[in-house]
Amino acid sequence: MTSVLRHLSERFTANIDREIKGWLSFEEGEPSMRNMLRYQLGYVDQDLQPGPGGGKRFRPILCLLAAEAVSGEWTNVLPLAAAIELVHNFSLIHDDIEDQDAFRRHRPTVWKVWGEAQAINAGDGMFALAGRAALAAGDSLSTLEIARRFQDTVLKLTEGQFLDLRFETATDVAIDTYLRMIELKTSALIAFSVWSGATAAGAGDEPRAALNCFGRDLGLAFQIHDDIMGIWGTPQETGKEPHTDLLNRKKTLPVLIAFERAGSEQHAILSDFYSRRNDDVSAVLQVLQETGARQEAEVAVNRHRSAASRQLDRAELSPAATQTFSELTKELTG
Ligand code: IPE
Ligand code: IPE
Ligand code: MG
Ligand code: MG
Repeated sequence: MTSVLRHLSERFTANIDREIKGWLSFEEGEPSMRNMLRYQLGYVDQDLQPGPGGGKRFRPILCLLAAEAVSGEWTNVLPLAAAIELVHNFSLIHDDIEDQDAFRRHRPTVWKVWGEAQAINAGDGMFALAGRAALAAGDSLSTLEIARRFQDTVLKLTEGQFLDLRFETATDVAIDTYLRMIELKTSALIAFSVWSGATAAGAGDEPRAALNCFGRDLGLAFQIHDDIMGIWGTPQETGKEPHTDLLNRKKTLPVLIAFERAGSEQHAILSDFYSRRNDDVSAVLQVLQETGARQEAEVAVNRHRSAASRQLDRAELSPAATQTFSELTKELTG
C-alpha cells in the first residue's frame, strides 16, 4: 500500500472496522451465517480464526473525507461509511461468482469456500445489513435523500454488472458503451461515497454535484487501471489468478483498443479467441502488445484522472482537503 492510502488507513480504518463489526453483531437471526460475511471482510480466515483485514477500504475513507471537508466532523458519518464498505463487499461476493474467480485478496473467494448458493446468501445478507447502516446516517431529511440515492446506486451497479457479463459474448462493444458499463458497475458507488459524505455533512448543491462528478471520473480511471492490472498485473499485485479477465472474454478497454487498432491478421487472432475457438492467451497478449493497447489505456486513465481533478477544483474545498483527494486519486489509479 502506498503512502497517502496508508496514512489515511491508519487514521480511519480502525474506526470503520469497529463500526462494521457493530452492525455485524446484531442479536436476532442466525449468527453462523455471518461467518461468511466476516471472512469476506477479512476479519477471520477460513478456519474462523482472526485474520488480517481485507481490502483497501478507500470508499468509506472517501465518504469520511468528504464529510470532514464540508463540516470538519466525520465520526457521525461512520454508519454511512460502513454501509458503503458493506455494499462494496456484497458486490464483490456476487462478482466473484459471476466471474467464477477463485481468488480475491490472495484468498479463496467466498463461493470457493462455502459454495455458490451460500455465497449468494452471504451477498444478500451483506446488502441488507448495508441498507440498515445507510438508514442510520444524518438528520431525517438527508437520511431519506441518502437512502434513496443508495438504492439507486446499487441498481446502477447491478445494471453495470449485467452489461459486463453480457459483453462477454458480444463481439462489437464500442468504447463508449464500455465506458457507460464501468460508470454503472464501478463509478456509481465511488461517486455515491463522496456525494453522500458531503450530503450527510450538510454541503450545498454545488459542492455535492462537483464531488459526485469527481467520484465518477475517479471511478472511471480506477476501473480502467484495474482492467490494465487484470491483464498485466502479477498475482502478487492483484491477489487473483492471472489472465482470468482474458479467459472470461471480458471486453475491457485494452482489448477494445486492440480490436480497433488490429490489422487483418491480428484481428483474426482476436476474433478466434473472443469467439472461443481457442484459449490461446499468449497470442492475444502479443496482439495487445503490438497494438500498444496498454499505453493507450493508460492515456485514458490519465484523461479521467485530469477530469477528476477539474471536478475537485470545482468543489472548492480547503487546499488541504483538495490535496488529500488529489493524492488519493493518483495512488488509486497508477
Ligand atoms: C475492486 O475494488 C472492484 C473494482 C471496482 C475494480 P477494490 O480494489 O477497491 O477492492 P478492495 O476492497 O480494495 O479489495
Ligand atoms: C468490478 O468488477 C465492479 C464490481 C464488483 C461491482 P470486476 O470484476 O471488474 O472487479 P475485480 O477485478 O474482480 O475486482
Ligand atoms: Mg466482474
Ligand atoms: Mg471480478
